[in-house]
Amino acid sequence: MNGRCATKDLLVPLSPVSVTKLTCEYSVTPLGIDTRQPRLSWQLAGAGRNLRQSAYQILGAGSPELLQQASGDCWDSGRINSDRSVQIVYGGAPLASSRRYYWSVRIWDGDNNPSPWSEASWWEMGLLAPADWQAEWITPDLAEDLAVSSPAPLLRTTFAVNGDVRSARLSITSLGLYEAELNGRRVGDLLFTPGWTSYAHRLQYQTYDVTDLLLPGANAAGVTLGDGWYRGFLLWGGKRNHYGDKLGLLFQLRIDYADGRSELVISGPNWKSSTGPILAADLYNGEHYDARLEKPGWSLAAFADDGWAGVTPLAASKEHLVAPVDAGVRRIEEVPARSVTVSPEGETLIDFGQNLVGWVRIRVQGAAGDQLTLRYGEVLDQQGNLYVANLRTAQATDRYILRGGEAEVYEPRFTFHGFRYAGVTGYPGELAPEQIVAVVVHSDMPVTGDFTCSHPLLNQLQHNIRWGQKGNFLDVPTDCPQRDERLGWTADLQVFLRTAIFNMDVAGVITKWLHDLAADQHADGNVPVVIPDPLGMAGSSAWGDAATIVPWTLYQCYDDTRILEQQYASMKGWVDWIHAQTGDALIWNTGFHFGDWLAIEAPDPRWPNPVTENDLLCTAFFAHSTDLLQRTAQVLGKTADAERYGSLLADIKAAFCHEFVSPAGRLSGNSQTAYVLALHFDLLPESERAAAAARLAAEIGRYDNHLTTGFVGTPYLCHVLSRFGYLDLAYTLLEQESYPSWLYAVKLGATTMWERWDSLRPDGSFQTTEMNSFNHYAYGAIGDWLYRVVAGIELDPAAPGYKRMRIEPRPGGSLTWARARYESGYGAIESAWTLTDGHLELTVTIPPNTEATITLPAGLVTEGSRPVAHADGILGVEIMGDRQQITVGSGEYRFRV
Ligand code: BGC
Repeated sequence: MNGRCATKDLLVPLSPVSVTKLTCEYSVTPLGIDTRQPRLSWQLAGAGRNLRQSAYQILGAGSPELLQQASGDCWDSGRINSDRSVQIVYGGAPLASSRRYYWSVRIWDGDNNPSPWSEASWWEMGLLAPADWQAEWITPDLAEDLAVSSPAPLLRTTFAVNGDVRSARLSITSLGLYEAELNGRRVGDLLFTPGWTSYAHRLQYQTYDVTDLLLPGANAAGVTLGDGWYRGFLLWGGKRNHYGDKLGLLFQLRIDYADGRSELVISGPNWKSSTGPILAADLYNGEHYDARLEKPGWSLAAFADDGWAGVTPLAASKEHLVAPVDAGVRRIEEVPARSVTVSPEGETLIDFGQNLVGWVRIRVQGAAGDQLTLRYGEVLDQQGNLYVANLRTAQATDRYILRGGEAEVYEPRFTFHGFRYAGVTGYPGELAPEQIVAVVVHSDMPVTGDFTCSHPLLNQLQHNIRWGQKGNFLDVPTDCPQRDERLGWTADLQVFLRTAIFNMDVAGVITKWLHDLAADQHADGNVPVVIPDPLGMAGSSAWGDAATIVPWTLYQCYDDTRILEQQYASMKGWVDWIHAQTGDALIWNTGFHFGDWLAIEAPDPRWPNPVTENDLLCTAFFAHSTDLLQRTAQVLGKTADAERYGSLLADIKAAFCHEFVSPAGRLSGNSQTAYVLALHFDLLPESERAAAAARLAAEIGRYDNHLTTGFVGTPYLCHVLSRFGYLDLAYTLLEQESYPSWLYAVKLGATTMWERWDSLRPDGSFQTTEMNSFNHYAYGAIGDWLYRVVAGIELDPAAPGYKRMRIEPRPGGSLTWARARYESGYGAIESAWTLTDGHLELTVTIPPNTEATITLPAGLVTEGSRPVAHADGILGVEIMGDRQQITVGSGEYRFRV
């Protein structure tokens, strides 16, 4: 359709701007969505500066041919005068189950010239109503001991394909995990499907295009089921079967023939079941695989399944099936073995040089019945043996029994491990490094950002933050990936989210998680401390506040108003629940709270032990959540709520100051975190903030320029310092190398973020085995300060999603240059600065259809070779004291001060 315009436009010159990168619901071409009004986004591309959109037109059609004729039989938005190019809500005819919709868009640029139509894109609907499911839930008819991990069942059926297949879609889900095959070939490449959700309320099903997997004539389908989160070991004390004790399968294959016929192949009483090579598979404990028990060809039509057991119908619901909103978990990359040695205990040790999450793939040749044992650990103990005490009861061990004969390749399924080292025993012969590789597994999230600077240890810190994110975004954002825990702890996510968004596109994963938060939230508004919630514990301040902070952050970063609409009741429920705890006093001083979790106990006898009082912390978060709720109410046009919560906020602040601030301005407890929260949440009157910031700085000085903050205070610490005039001190903390500090772990060779400031103590010993993860992203929350302050990429809260932004790098510390890139919804934003001979050079990229205010120190500024005021694309220059603000449209700029 490129180049073709409706007749009336032929007289108008075509814009040099083109429309690219069409996405629907954060995805390029999503298959099987159930959003009835999907949101469409695109980007503008073209040479030059200040590219803008003044209007757009979208066409939606049931076929690419119709779209080619510029006819939107489903939707023709007509020309809409708007500069919006992200999150445009579909406004056409109602969308039908299983149908594919094609769409295209053109824009009018800043000169009102139309662009060519974009390339066509599409999305496809899944099954929108329970009645669309003809399939029946089935469960294998196999005897099992429910107290232990049982062999993973195989389920199969055969069917005929009679005619030319136009397309085929498999809609499938399970109780437990599933992996499906058609005619001996794996369906898709997703792992850990159907994913972990609040199963009682929301169970995901996946849709696959399986057209190419079908054969003319006889066909077969096979599905392996695993325990997973549904009924495997989860939490502590050997607890399992949290959601149910029977595995189940719901399978519906629709075959559309070229001649217009359609047929369904569905799970039902005619399926058969058996067990295969997986003797046990558990997320915490690992997999036990006996290759001698493989049933070659079991998902082929010709396979003789006499002797297989049957299946039983399962009374499970189809009412709560939902389509995924994220891209799912995949094998993302591989890490080769760095070394193979033998430990003092005699175990063959493979070092992958990186703490990561997934498993190993190993190649082995030996006799039938030989057994390989693979253990996994994050660190070595002081003797050099694999250290697994911090995994607590998680066995994290895979066992493989060889088939014998030819070389065989093994990697587990239905389990994952957090490790840098693997310990192998039973390997026949010498294990060469090429025979083993680490497979890195996580939610599929495109990389969106990067930060680098002149300080190698800070670059390693950024690396560690990124790997902490990879390791802990496995379907659910978790605290840790290795011990018997791996739960969606709410505080961990709310503190890390802003950083996570810079590094990778997490919109889908977090949207899914928020839907689970709302589903698991108690009727009275109380929020569990982990989501999904198998634990049944709720009500901790800073944990439950994920209910307000997470949706607000998504809205700010992705201009996602819908998540605010969807979560509004949840956000409000949480704030009202807290209010019910405090009553009119508005001081939250009841209930159990984790407090400023893992804040340090002063390691130096000269230092006082910092204590952040729970009452203060809880009341501060009460105010913060109320603040976010009233802002949300404003965005959604809920004026009465906005006013009500606005005045509640004012009252909480007053109560906070009355209760916790002494007449001299000292915050009760006097901890760093107390000042950080009061300042970051704007709880103090303007007139008292400078003094409070000075007290914070003094407190940091008292600890020889060390932080004392835990999970709750740390994320905001440097932000508060840089905001209130202590940029140097923020850099001092950032570059601090002795305990407690971010670089302490880096200096000790960390390759991920640690749970504790001293997971490995200065004397070389480990922190308590009870809680010591070497892959915990919470302290990685410093990442957003690197992007937002060091590199200076900051959104404008009033124009979310980076429609407008601020670029204000704040060079400091020992840094001579820093560079960050972030792929926003509008395109790439970059900020790179260098200090040379007293000059600041700043290269900035601003994406099309956005605007930026660039803040530089006052002085003579050139852009390219011209004085800034005369440069192309500059919309304004304003001097403000010792700074100047330059407003620009899109393009690449090189400033020199
Ligand atoms: C988790 C944390 C979590 C905490 C609650 C721990 O076991 O690993 O990251 O937030 O419990 O305080």
